[in-house]
Amino acid sequence: MRKIAIVGFKGGIGKTTTCVSLGAALALRGHRVLLIDTDTQANVAIALGISQYQKSLADVLIRKAKAEECIVPARPNLDMLPSSLALFKAQQRMVLEMAREEIFAELFAGLNGYEYLLMDCAPSVSLLTVNAMAYVDEVFIPVSMELLALAGAQQFLEYLKSINRMLGKGATIRLIIPTFFDPRRQVSPRVLAALEKTFGDRVTLPIRVDTKLSEAPGVGKTIFEYAPRSRGAVDYARLTELVATMPPLEQDKTE
Ligand SMILES: Nc1ncnc2c1ncn2[C@@H]1O[C@H](COP(=O)(O)OP(=O)(O)OP(=O)(O)O)[C@@H](O)[C@H]1O
Ligand SMILES: [Mg+2]
Repeated sequence: MRKIAIVGFKGGIGKTTTCVSLGAALALRGHRVLLIDTDTQANVAIALGISQYQKSLADVLIRKAKAEECIVPARPNLDMLPSSLALFKAQQRMVLEMAREEIFAELFAGLNGYEYLLMDCAPSVSLLTVNAMAYVDEVFIPVSMELLALAGAQQFLEYLKSINRMLGKGATIRLIIPTFFDPRRQVSPRVLAALEKTFGDRVTLPIRVDTKLSEAPGVGKTIFEYAPRSRGAVDYARLTELVATMPPLEQDKTE
């Protein structure tokens, strides 16, 4: 099972959009996918049009439920472990326990039968995010095409290095995903070039700005359901091919 966290310090840079679109496209490609929402905003369920669920990650954290009992089927091949506002309180209650970095490995031990596990993370340095990064093997970082976002990505790299030092192991930054790319704005190619200078071939082809991508979650549809011919659908399908065909982590030369 490939365990991937989609993270970044900045808010609104396309983390949830990437998580849901990549997950949906992998599922359409025939892979069994589980999306885990670790953000109290609970945007993954909203984006998939699912408003009714009894249990969430909060219940798993406080051990009221097992992870496998909280799973909600979202689409063929695509399941979701939803979040909720209760996660905020659960996280506070569990502070001591969450200081042990293996907590997610323990709580998610019963999640079997998936080829991909994608975690959507909050735009903050929370215990949940640190734990998510301790759990996964691969990290994907969306970076929107603004100068501040570029600085955010570099800070994140330092942050991940310090977490890895602390844990004595670590997730690998596998992909940097340029988002909100707008060729008509000069800043887009500038930020893209700077990203490539810092992160080299880990930078993927960009996801272009597309209003369809912002409309789809409002009606609870994936971009492939809402506008399958849109730029957003094309770009996320292309990203998915890259993700599905990249060499296994051990053979990858990136740090
Ligand atoms: N390429 C794009 N073009 C246009 N709109 C986009 C694009 N990607 C995402 N959006 C929209 O931008 C908003 C922010 O995206 P998203 O929720 O994915 O960001 P996020 O990083 O998960 O935010 P948060 O930090 O709040 O969790 C959403 O309304 C989303 O639909
Ligand atoms: Mg989000």
